[in-house]
Amino acid sequence: MPGIITIGNQKGGVGKTTTVVNLADALGRDGYRVLVIDADPQANCTSILLKEIGLREQFSLVKALEAPIEDGNLSSMACTTSNDNVDVIPNTIRCMLWERTAANTPDSILGFLRLAKHDTGLNKYDFVLIDTPPNIGAMVNNALMLSDYAIVPIPTSDQFALDGLATFLRILQNIRSQNGKLRLMGVLLTKYDSRASVYVKNRERIISFFSSKGIYVFKTTIRHNVDIDRAHMKRKTIFEFDPAKYGAKDHAALAKEIAQIVEKENVRK
Ligand SMILES: Nc1ncnc2c1ncn2[C@@H]1O[C@H](COP(=O)(O)OP(=O)(O)OP(=O)(O)O)[C@@H](O)[C@H]1O
Ligand SMILES: [Mg+2]
Repeated sequence: MPGIITIGNQKGGVGKTTTVVNLADALGRDGYRVLVIDADPQANCTSILLKEIGLREQFSLVKALEAPIEDGNLSSMACTTSNDNVDVIPNTIRCMLWERTAANTPDSILGFLRLAKHDTGLNKYDFVLIDTPPNIGAMVNNALMLSDYAIVPIPTSDQFALDGLATFLRILQNIRSQNGKLRLMGVLLTKYDSRASVYVKNRERIISFFSSKGIYVFKTTIRHNVDIDRAHMKRKTIFEFDPAKYGAKDHAALAKEIAQIVEKENVRK
């Protein structure tokens, strides 16, 4: 079974999508088979990874959720990307309507689990990465119910993102009462700039704060890199854009760190 990882933080713009698309590409380049599930109706992951955008009318997460209960699964919605080892389940804005109609039904929290239950097509993947929207709604609940791990990106200088983290940790705790395998893999510091002393001080403060609470902070910090924005504008991962940029080097290091953590955990199990 793959290691299933939700990238989540209800704060917007912290680097969730950036982490998912670049981590997926990096893991794929290291030879792992990766499935990205775009659980965000904004569909930012989709717009970067899915090369034929029209395909999302035929294959999408929301289509899987809307299928008759006995027919639905996740893997049949997977589309190829420019990385042979990476597939994506796209999403569309229609997912917002689904969230409304599914409110107060079991699918508003158990929909992904239902789709994954007998889905043997998922077994070919080493990792499933789930991108989530900046809220604490049905998509986030569904993603966490399916996941083994959560990763929380936080920009190094964003006090509001830090303030909001307690809420996300409470949600994790709630979901853990129903999904006992879920654990917080770690906090990922993003958009770091070592030239600004406020970032340097804040990074140290954040690391010692979380360490004192027993929460892992990834050794890899993602530096602020304008080429990440440039890559997004061209609808590319940073590796497709230019693998020599330090945004690519940071995500490559993160992929190695995460693969090691998951492999260690699998041995322990
Ligand atoms: N390391 C980085 N260096 C420079 N810019 C970055 C970096 N990481 C993310 N960004 C930029 O910050 C913005 C927000 O990033 P991203 O879309 O990944 O965040 P998000 O958490 O997925 O947002 P949302 O909550 O809206 O889904 C984007 O414009 C992205 O290009
Ligand atoms: Mg996003």
